[in-house]
Amino acid sequence: MADAGPDNVAQTARNRAKIAVFISGGGTNMAAILYASRLADAAYEIVLVASNMADAGGLELAQLEGIATFVHSHKGHSRANHDAAMEAAAKEAGADYLVLAGYMRILSDEFAQRWQGRILNIHPSLLPKYKGLNTFARAIEAGDSHAGASVHVVTPDLDAGEVLAQARVAIARDDTAETLGARVKLAEHQLYPRSIADYVSRGSDPGHLFARVRELALALPETHERTSHGSPGFRVGSEKTGKYFAYFSDRHHGSGHIALLVKTSGMDELLNLVESQPDTYYKPAFYGASGWVGVILNRPDADWDHIAEWLERSWRSVAPARLTKLIDAADMF
Ligand code: GRF
Repeated sequence: MADAGPDNVAQTARNRAKIAVFISGGGTNMAAILYASRLADAAYEIVLVASNMADAGGLELAQLEGIATFVHSHKGHSRANHDAAMEAAAKEAGADYLVLAGYMRILSDEFAQRWQGRILNIHPSLLPKYKGLNTFARAIEAGDSHAGASVHVVTPDLDAGEVLAQARVAIARDDTAETLGARVKLAEHQLYPRSIADYVSRGSDPGHLFARVRELALALPETHERTSHGSPGFRVGSEKTGKYFAYFSDRHHGSGHIALLVKTSGMDELLNLVESQPDTYYKPAFYGASGWVGVILNRPDADWDHIAEWLERSWRSVAPARLTKLIDAADMF
């Protein structure tokens, strides 16, 4: 386990996301991620560095810096078995996220699905250009003005998940794959720690949470947005006669919650929810008195399918029958 020296104790006292970094090689990105995590106010800490290669250079550095390491060779193991061993180690270390940094193994679809939205990778090209290998040679060959690196969310499709951020690197006339690659590495070391920090902070970022709520709310039929008492709200129906079905509340009235307020069937259901799942629900000031419940969004395991269901249910409870019939018909297919 990591050595809990005085510095580490101070760091973990704050609420940092826990990441496991998977490497296969030199681990220079891992080193950049690691030293960024040692800065004051870092958003994450590394709980494990894991590798499929016993001689991966980064392992030694991780050990020197008091970080737990794990090695499991892929040789002689099926992909599923190897994945399972890596996954078990990450879980045991308490990782919330997996960060691939030069990890030269393709994860099984099942693994990628189980950690959906919680695995990041860095790829040395400006995606969607040049997925796969030999990216620098291909960029030079194509006569591109810039190469670069992309941080993306890992999905079962190789190098195809949402791109979170990119760094561009100009290509010099006399660049070789090696010289260009060396400069892209420098850019990667700036890009990756920042992207990880932004990504793991999303869940407590009101701007990000509001954007997600808005997208879901406005995807429901005949909806529009209108501010009410300083909070953004969403209504169904016409601008004139529409009714509110949701509000977004950013730590209003002294609550520490960033929340979606939606209509329950009444006080019994509201109190029942709050009592049985206090980490998910609370009774908001003012709105609570009329049966609106607060669904807490700034929690690590916020379930967005569930949030979408609440929005639809609340929308249904005030939408005119001609619209609910429409959505019923659509749901049948
Ligand atoms: C980086 O170039 C990264 O883009 C790719 O693998 C390389 C890892 O390098 N995915 P390092 O081991 O971090 O030095």
